[in-house]
Amino acid sequence: MGHLLVSDNDAIRVITLQRPEKKNAITRDMYRAMSGAIDSAQNDPVIRCIVITGNSGVFTAGNDLDDFLKDGTSGGDERASDAVKFLYSLVQNTKPLIAAVEGIAVGIGTTMLFHCDYVLAGSSATFSTPFIHLGLVPEGASSLLAPQSIGYQRAFAMLVMGRTLNANEAREAGFVNTVVAPGEAAAEAEKIAREICALPAEAVALSRKLLKPQPEELTRRIDLESRLFGERLRSEEAIAAFQAFFARKKR
Ligand code: COA
Repeated sequence: MGHLLVSDNDAIRVITLQRPEKKNAITRDMYRAMSGAIDSAQNDPVIRCIVITGNSGVFTAGNDLDDFLKDGTSGGDERASDAVKFLYSLVQNTKPLIAAVEGIAVGIGTTMLFHCDYVLAGSSATFSTPFIHLGLVPEGASSLLAPQSIGYQRAFAMLVMGRTLNANEAREAGFVNTVVAPGEAAAEAEKIAREICALPAEAVALSRKLLKPQPEELTRRIDLESRLFGERLRSEEAIAAFQAFFARKKR
């Protein structure tokens, strides 16, 4: 489909966000397509690794704010179902997942990284989760995974205070494995994927499961966050923040 490219390169499935005119902001269709690409890899014995990346030097500006605004003002919960299904797909995924991040990784662009097994970043990449500034709460099980991954205080600075991390800070924090030259993340991710593909697949799958929190714990947290997130989308604070974003160029 138009804004998402899914291609299989031997045993590696590469999912590429490609909506450059909107900084790869993720729409409902894109969430559905990403879920489909992950879910359909599960029972495909040929696929041994999944890489997720963005084109045009951008990972993603996060959830499409226009969709957020529509959800907040319409009372519908379509976003919830598509985004949450994508998060469930990440949780249920049994194939090693590698992210190659260039440029900005905003909101879910950063929180999805806590579900990845290996993360590469171009040296000019930045990571931000401006949930609170948008009147929202953290999502994607990040309220559980981020403190575990980077420690509570760093998670608070990021998820609550909205502090942006650069690539080196993200590596020091622990959720980026390797920083590479700008533009090299996808190529380097493919090398890592080949390295993982060469390992015994069953032993990788079992070890991965041992290293990660139980899927039930993650889905419980996603459900809890999503309930609050849905309420917050309808809050005056959130609606005002989305409207301010779209009004900013007119000022
Ligand atoms: N949802 C919808 N549209 C988005 C978007 C998003 N999350 N992020 C960027 N866009 C659109 C802009 O509206 C703009 O569209 P236009 O050209 O039709 O006006 C286009 O993408 C380019 O964005 P722009 O803001 O001009 O680029 P920039 O380089 O100045 O800034 C960002 C990039 C990512 C810093 C800025 O766009 C931004 O803050 N986006 C919102 C990020 C966000 O809050 N995401 C949700 C997190 S929960």
